[in-house]
Formats: sequence, C-alpha cells, structure tokens
Amino acid sequence: MYPSRKEAHKILAEAVPHNPGPWETHSKLVALCAERIAAECGLDTAKAYVCGLLHDIGRRFGVKHLAHTYDGYQYMKELGYDDIAKICLTHSFHNQDIHDYVGNYDLPPAEFKELQRLLEQITYDDYDRLIQLCDGMATGEAIVDIEERLREVQLRYGFFPKKKLDKIMELRAYFEEKIGKDIYAVVV
Ligand SMILES: [Fe+2]
Repeated sequence: MYPSRKEAHKILAEAVPHNPGPWETHSKLVALCAERIAAECGLDTAKAYVCGLLHDIGRRFGVKHLAHTYDGYQYMKELGYDDIAKICLTHSFHNQDIHDYVGNYDLPPAEFKELQRLLEQITYDDYDRLIQLCDGMATGEAIVDIEERLREVQLRYGFFPKKKLDKIMELRAYFEEKIGKDIYAVVV
C-alpha cells in the first residue's frame, strides 16, 4: 500500500514544520528522479514518485541519524503504507547491513535490534534500489553528480565506506543497463 501523490504531498507538507530543513527539497528531487527513471524502465511511476517523496519522512521526528529510518518505518506502518515503510527502512542500507549506515547510531538498543531484525527479513526490489540510487543523486538543493553528492556526505561525516560507494555505482550501472542510457540524460 502506498498513498496517492496528493496524499503524499499532504504528509510531507504536514511533516516539514516539525523539523524544517533541506530534506524537504531533497525529498522532492528524489521523487522526480525516481519517477523519471521509473518511466524509462517500466516501473510504476506513481509508486516510484511517492516512495521518493516520503523516503525521509522519519525526519519529521527531529534531527536524527540512523533513527530517521526507524521513525519513518513506524510512521508509515501506522498510516498503513507498508510499501513506503519498507523504503524508509531500506534506503540507507545499500548492502542490507545495519552497519552500512553513515552517521550517528542514535537508536536505543531495543529499537536497534528491531531495525536489524526487520532489515534482515526484507527482500529488496527495484523500488528499494531505485530510491537508494536517487537518494545519491539529489542534495537539498539540486540534482548533482553522484560522486559530488557522496563527497558532500563524506565531508559531513568524515568518511564513506568503499563497499557502499561500490554498491551505489553498481546501482547506477544496473539502471543504466535497464534504460539503455545515462541516468542523467533522463533526470536533468
Ligand atoms: Fe534518509
């Protein structure tokens, strides 16, 4: 289950005042990228768009790091949007490993264990992969070169694991093979 575009925009608009920041524009840009790439490779464009728009909805609950994935998951589950809940969870873990997260591990032990358990049970599909890719293509201001975006993350946190970088590049190649062209030819 996932919301309509209209409902998803309503959810985002309601959320932003709780924690205003660049994640609002970032979410809109990820939604646009996801929609355009989805259109080129036969995925559901409406689903891709709302997955992108709400992937960071956990930021509604404050300035958090790892916890924003868990908060978003719980919030979307409460609203009955299981497909979005899954995206909130998977978008930060390119290698399906909780230790793949770049940022502070700000979850209490019980929630950390729960997140780990959920993550282990999930099977990634093309929507998870698409949002992971598009998350890497958009800052809070613009659609940028992936490597530029990752440099920004690296500067913010002081490091970026090679295994994660390799996985993002693998995702780019995966979608470029599907659409038969450069992803930036589609989104810019
Ligand atoms: Fe996020």
